[in-house]
Amino acid sequence: MALLSILHYPDPRLHKVAQPIDAVDDAVRQLAADMAETMYAAPGVGLAATQVDRHIRLIVVDVSEDKDRLMTLINPVIVDKDGETVHEEGCLSVPGIYDKVTRAERIRVRARHLDGREFEMEADGLLAVCIQHEIDHLNGKVFVEYLSRLKQQRIRAKLLKQAKEAM
Ligand code: NI
Repeated sequence: MALLSILHYPDPRLHKVAQPIDAVDDAVRQLAADMAETMYAAPGVGLAATQVDRHIRLIVVDVSEDKDRLMTLINPVIVDKDGETVHEEGCLSVPGIYDKVTRAERIRVRARHLDGREFEMEADGLLAVCIQHEIDHLNGKVFVEYLSRLKQQRIRAKLLKQAKEAM
């Protein structure tokens, strides 16, 4: 297992669209394990492969309090959604920034397990928000893009300054 480095906004690689995974092989399973370790260490509640500069459709999430409900979703697709919920979101790729985003309240997701089997699940609350946020990453979208242009400009400037100071 290994900790992976996480891309920070406004890195253009965060806007790449991830490719579907054809075969769930050992390389995919290893990446999923490393992503889970990276997410827990951060700590965070979700991580998409895009954020570690691997552009394939793989996400890990764990919104449980005890951090014992790891879910790994391969090629996740939202097949149904309803309702509306507003949540204050953060992102490991946008450190220190939190803001409200409106998303579907309930979703139905189709995906594959690490053993390649297809399954469907329903999610609501924080889990639904988190899965939608991570699928956005696979589509090259970062949550700050839901905010006003002015806020996006401020966040971009702040993170660029932080990155400069860290060098
Ligand atoms: Ni994120």
